[in-house]
Amino acid sequence: MRQEKIHVTVIGAGLMGHAIAQVFLAGGHNVYLHDRNREILADAPGKIRDIYNLLKQDPSTLINLTCEEALWDAVQNAELVIEAGPEKLEIKQAIFAQLSELAPDTAILATNTSAIPIHEVSAKVVNRSRVVGTHFWNPPHLVRLVEVVQSDKTALSTVQRTISLLEGVAMKPVHVKHDIPGFIGNRLQHAMKREAIALVSAGVCDAETIDTVVKHSFGSRLAILGPMEQSDLVGLNLTLDILTVLFPTLDNSTEPPPLLVDKVKRGETGMATGKGFRDWTKESAEQVKNRMRDYLTKQSSREV
Ligand SMILES: NC(=O)c1ccc[n+]([C@@H]2O[C@H](COP(=O)([O-])OP(=O)(O)OC[C@H]3O[C@@H](n4cnc5c(N)ncnc54)[C@H](O)[C@@H]3O)[C@@H](O)[C@H]2O)c1
Repeated sequence: MRQEKIHVTVIGAGLMGHAIAQVFLAGGHNVYLHDRNREILADAPGKIRDIYNLLKQDPSTLINLTCEEALWDAVQNAELVIEAGPEKLEIKQAIFAQLSELAPDTAILATNTSAIPIHEVSAKVVNRSRVVGTHFWNPPHLVRLVEVVQSDKTALSTVQRTISLLEGVAMKPVHVKHDIPGFIGNRLQHAMKREAIALVSAGVCDAETIDTVVKHSFGSRLAILGPMEQSDLVGLNLTLDILTVLFPTLDNSTEPPPLLVDKVKRGETGMATGKGFRDWTKESAEQVKNRMRDYLTKQSSREV
């Protein structure tokens, strides 16, 4: 169902911001994009056009994009502002303090923070009932979920309006009812990483084997069978029997694992440096990125 056209402002035209802008443009809205870095802002329309091309979408709605260097001009008529600036609390608080003054009182102020609690981001906003988390996943034009995070200050009406706007641009919003670190998706993802790193650290297998096991077992069906429906499918009695044996043996450390800390100390941070949990060449890293993009593009065209 087509909804009304509104004025959406995206703050930060980096990796996430330009792609979030494309989602709202393709959904028929007027989008103002602001970045304090002029070059990044100037490059944004080209990158947004690339997304239209990748998705084979009609790029005519690009005409509704305004790249705006002045924050005031970008937000003065905004109905929804989505902040996608750096993941640094002091920068986000400063942006939100400005939004509190410059955006209309009725505008929803949303943050794309990955992990910072929404009540901390909104600390300097006068009316905090209109501040909400909208955690998009990368890349937002291919991964549809958005976690809409409600802090104890956020009005339910803000959450409901945000969810309705996101549904109107073909995203899949879910309501996160508590302002907890990592929201839902990253908590699940990192719970698995904790166990994966523990298995490698204990010498049960190497990092490549972890990836093989996940991709070729439960990972191959995860996109169509979530863990709760899978439990119901096999029966909760079997799930209980397995958990009773497993839970006492699962990793439950509360500090980052030494294997990870040591690798970061040595500068072995992953594909960018050629070595992380696994070894990478430029070509093999590129192959993984392209494989992911092509797979997600195919999936997303099936969903439409
Ligand atoms: N990269 C991811 O996979 C991912 C996924 C989900 C959420 N996020 C979150 O989205 C946000 C943005 O991440 P990103 O990867 O796009 O970062 P990025 O570094 O690519 O982009 C941030 C942009 O903000 C601009 N900026 C900095 N200060 C600003 C200010 N005061 N006003 C306006 N613009 C400013 C920078 O010039 C830059 O272009 C972060 O909070 C991040 O945690 C990232």
